[in-house]
Amino acid sequence: MTNQAAWIKEKQGKPLVIDEADMYKPGAGEVLIRNHAVSINPVDWVMQDHAFFPMSYPNILGCDIAGEIVEVGPEVTDFKKGDRVISHAINLVTGSPSHGAFQQYVIGQGNVTAIIPDNLAYEQAVVLPLAISTAACGLYQSHHLALPLPSIGAARLGKTLLVWGAASSVGSVAVQLANASGFDVVATASAKNIEYVKSLGAKVVLDYNSSSVEDDVVKALQDGEFAGVFEAVAKPETLKVSLKAASRVGGGRLAPVLQVPEELLPANIKKAPEFIFAASLYKESPEVAKAVWGEYLPAALADGSFLAKPDPIVVGTGLEKIQDGFERHKQGVSAAKVVVKL
Ligand SMILES: NC(=O)c1ccc[n+]([C@@H]2O[C@H](COP(=O)([O-])OP(=O)(O)OC[C@H]3O[C@@H](n4cnc5c(N)ncnc54)[C@H](OP(=O)(O)O)[C@@H]3O)[C@@H](O)[C@H]2O)c1
Repeated sequence: MTNQAAWIKEKQGKPLVIDEADMYKPGAGEVLIRNHAVSINPVDWVMQDHAFFPMSYPNILGCDIAGEIVEVGPEVTDFKKGDRVISHAINLVTGSPSHGAFQQYVIGQGNVTAIIPDNLAYEQAVVLPLAISTAACGLYQSHHLALPLPSIGAARLGKTLLVWGAASSVGSVAVQLANASGFDVVATASAKNIEYVKSLGAKVVLDYNSSSVEDDVVKALQDGEFAGVFEAVAKPETLKVSLKAASRVGGGRLAPVLQVPEELLPANIKKAPEFIFAASLYKESPEVAKAVWGEYLPAALADGSFLAKPDPIVVGTGLEKIQDGFERHKQGVSAAKVVVKL
């Protein structure tokens, strides 16, 4: 077996260069995956264009993997050769090229890997991994929202969570996980995505471009006990509105995907000092990873109660298409994920 990767050869190196890579041996708790699809996340091209945190070069970027397990490492009991899986690649934490998604064979961490059903195509399933870890960190880590862990058919708790930016990849997962934790979800999206977000299980979906959105959110949050805000997009212009609405219904906790300027925080909204860091899940919160990735996700994908959404925009097949995927993602997406088949 030989391996090939789409390398970032040097700081801000562009385009990615297709070249040989090592064939890796999975360590304890790891699996070796033959990659069949990857998706593009904002962090991939932001790292290429701006190198916004330090990394050694050459290296291999990429967070989302869907493929087939070819070898399991020591202490791995949940997977076997031939399993079809999705996995969250954690190169941004370890800095090791073996952990970057953009290659044919890649090392995945067993505790942020899940078996997918036979009828779920790799290019559809691959929209999920980073979004799953991001939403799981924000919803379940004790320093963020600390919701009860998800389960199929969870009892309703009479509590309501606000998910702002629910048509995004992260928001689409957050709506579904919060629902599976027994929470009602009030969400925002642009008008064209309201039905889409309702199809994910949100109880009320409001247009964030409406001039009355703050009042609309406050009204929707009157039902049930307000449980907090998951900010899936965290743009300053709408963050102001979501936090003001949350403050008007009594305040609570906030879990944002990006840094929130302190001056935007009303006194009755509390958040952890740091924003969500998806790659912290596999190491810092193994109990959350096990409950979400190990238990809930494979069962809920199999019985259809959790959907691999948003739908992919497949820009092509082959490692050489990943740079095209970066450029496509920069144009912006709406309830969609940019995907490359391998
Ligand atoms: N901290 C972490 O660990 C972590 C991990 C993953 C992602 N992120 C960050 O999280 C953000 C979301 O990532 P993603 O991949 O989910 O993004 P994405 O899917 O590319 O986001 C696009 C979506 O955002 C929605 N949107 C844009 N502006 C909005 C606003 N002002 N209010 C509400 N919705 C808005 C759009 O909804 P409409 O189409 O309905 O307009 C669109 O569907 C990015 O900034 C990303 O860098 C952070």
